[in-house]
Amino acid sequence: MIPVTKTYLPDKAKYQRYIDEIYVNGWVTNGGPLVQKLEKRLAEYLGVKNIVLVANGTVALEIAYRALGISGFVVTTPFSFVATTSSLVTNGLLPIFSDIDPLTYNIDPNHIEEAITPNTSAILGVHVFGNACEVETIEHIAKKHRLKVIYDAAHAFGVQYKGQSLLNYGDISTLSFHATKLFHTIEGGALIINDDTLVQKARYLINFGIEDTESIPELGTNAKMNEFEAAMGLCLLDDLELIREKRASVENIYQNELKDIVQFQKRNLHASQNFSYFPIVLKSENELKTIQTALNAQDIFPRRYFYPSLDTLKYIEPKQYCPIARDIAKRILCLPMYADLESADQDRICKIVQSTLKFLNGAE
Ligand SMILES: Cc1ncc(COP(=O)(O)O)c(C=O)c1O
Repeated sequence: MIPVTKTYLPDKAKYQRYIDEIYVNGWVTNGGPLVQKLEKRLAEYLGVKNIVLVANGTVALEIAYRALGISGFVVTTPFSFVATTSSLVTNGLLPIFSDIDPLTYNIDPNHIEEAITPNTSAILGVHVFGNACEVETIEHIAKKHRLKVIYDAAHAFGVQYKGQSLLNYGDISTLSFHATKLFHTIEGGALIINDDTLVQKARYLINFGIEDTESIPELGTNAKMNEFEAAMGLCLLDDLELIREKRASVENIYQNELKDIVQFQKRNLHASQNFSYFPIVLKSENELKTIQTALNAQDIFPRRYFYPSLDTLKYIEPKQYCPIARDIAKRILCLPMYADLESADQDRICKIVQSTLKFLNGAE
C-alpha cells in the first residue's frame, strides 16, 4: 500500500542510544537535556533567534495567540488544515476568512484589508505546502492597521526567503513536528518568536503559567515536549539532507511526468522549496474523484488536502463564503510524497494519472 506520506524512522540503534541516555539520567520531561539540545540545534539549523518546543503544532498556535494577547477577530485563510481555524475558535477568537490566490493557494494579500474591522487584532497566514506567503505585503498591511502577524508555518520547515529563514517573518511562526511532516518528533511543534521579551512568557504558558515553584505569573496550560520526542528529532536532524535530496528527486519526476496535464502550485520565486507535499489541481472534482478511484484500486492513497474549504465548517459564525478556496479545495489532490517512495511505484502513480486523464479527455 502506498500512502500519501510515510513517517521517516531513523536508525534504530541511534535512537536507542538516546533512550539509554534518558534511562541513565531519569529525566523524561519538563524541559530536559534533550529538549534543550534540540532547541539549540534547531535554532542553528533553521537560522532563527528563539525557538520554544511544544507538544504539537495545534497547541503552538494556541500559545502564539495567548503570548501576543490576540482577541476578537483574526483575518485568516480558508485553505489550510482544520487546526489553523479550530485553534482560533477554541480560544474564543473569530476567524474572518480572506480568500486565497487561485495559483499560490495562499491568502491573497489584495483582499486582506477588506476583511479588517476595528475588532481585528491579527492576521494569521499559512505558508501552504511550504509555499511562502507574500510576507512583505502582509507586514505592510499589519503595520498600517496595528495588527499582529502569526504564520502557521507547519509546512514550511527549512524554507528560506530572500536569504534568511522564512520563519523570521511575522511576530510568531509556528511549526508542526507531527509524524507525517518532513521533520518530525512523533508528535511535536515549535514557536519561533521574534521579540526576545515574549520568549519567557511563552515558556510560562506551556508550563501551566508557572515561573518557579512559588510564582505563577500567567494563565497557562501543559504544552511541553518530552525527552523521547526530542530524541526522535535529534536523530531526524542528522538525516535531513538525505531526506531532502530524496524528496527533491520525487518532486522532479512528478514535475516532468505531469507538467502538461495538471495544474501545479505557483511557487514564490524568492523562496526555497522543502518538497513537503506534491499537490495537483484537476479541471473538475469529477476528474479528481476518477483519478482517486483509479489510484485506490491499485492500493495507492493520495489525500484531498485541503478539503473541505474551512469557510464551510458548520461551527463558523457568521457564515462566510470564499469561492476561490471552495473551488480549489474541490479540485486539489496531494500525491504520495516521501523520501522512500520507490521509483517504480512513482512510475505507476504517474502512469495511472496520465492514462485516467487521457481516458477522460478522450471521453469528453
Ligand atoms: C497547516 C497546519 N497547521 C496546523 C497543524 C497541526 O499540527 P499538529 O498535528 O502538530 O497539531 C497541521 C498539521 O498537522 C497543519 O498542516
